[in-house]
Amino acid sequence: MQRSADIAEAWNRKYPEQVVLVITKSPEGKVNIMAVGWVCLVSDAPPMFLVGIDDPAYTLELIRKTGEFVIAYPSQSMAQATLYAGTVHGHHEDKGKNSGLEFLPGTETSVPILADAVANFECKLVAEYRPGNCPLVTGEVIASHVNTDASVLRLVNWGPGYQLR
Ligand SMILES: Cc1cc2nc3c(=O)[nH]c(=O)nc-3n(C[C@H](O)[C@H](O)[C@H](O)COP(=O)(O)O)c2cc1C
Repeated sequence: MQRSADIAEAWNRKYPEQVVLVITKSPEGKVNIMAVGWVCLVSDAPPMFLVGIDDPAYTLELIRKTGEFVIAYPSQSMAQATLYAGTVHGHHEDKGKNSGLEFLPGTETSVPILADAVANFECKLVAEYRPGNCPLVTGEVIASHVNTDASVLRLVNWGPGYQLR
């Protein structure tokens, strides 16, 4: 059975929702991380991700400037760092350093990857769209990396208010 509901109430039923970390690096070398739930695969040949990144995000500024970014699937041990990455803007904060996360060099981009993530995808910007109010960025995956420990599980957002575990 169904009853009519407003969109906000219906959207509250979307959980569990995946979460990724989008990593960027400024031309001056500052590493930034941002949490993103609006993300999906949109092509497998070539492999591409699409992410929704709001206008105020420093991440969007850096992607437009450098044309590259990394998408990481955070592990369950990264809940606190993911909440930090997702609630503080990076314009005046060094989130890469303050997160306590360990980074490794990327192999095909200048953006670092996350040592303890479940997987990392180095991406080159393909296009930006704006079908609604949120800029959508597509990136082609040019290198991918997986955690050597296959038992490490992905972090998931289980409910409103960022229930990350
Ligand atoms: C679990 C979670 C999911 C989020 N999903 C998105 C998203 O899909 N798009 C978005 O623009 N912001 C999202 N945010 C908010 C951004 O991560 C937040 O605005 C962040 O501070 C932006 O960082 P930046 O300005 O350093 O790029 C999310 C936050 C959390 C905690």
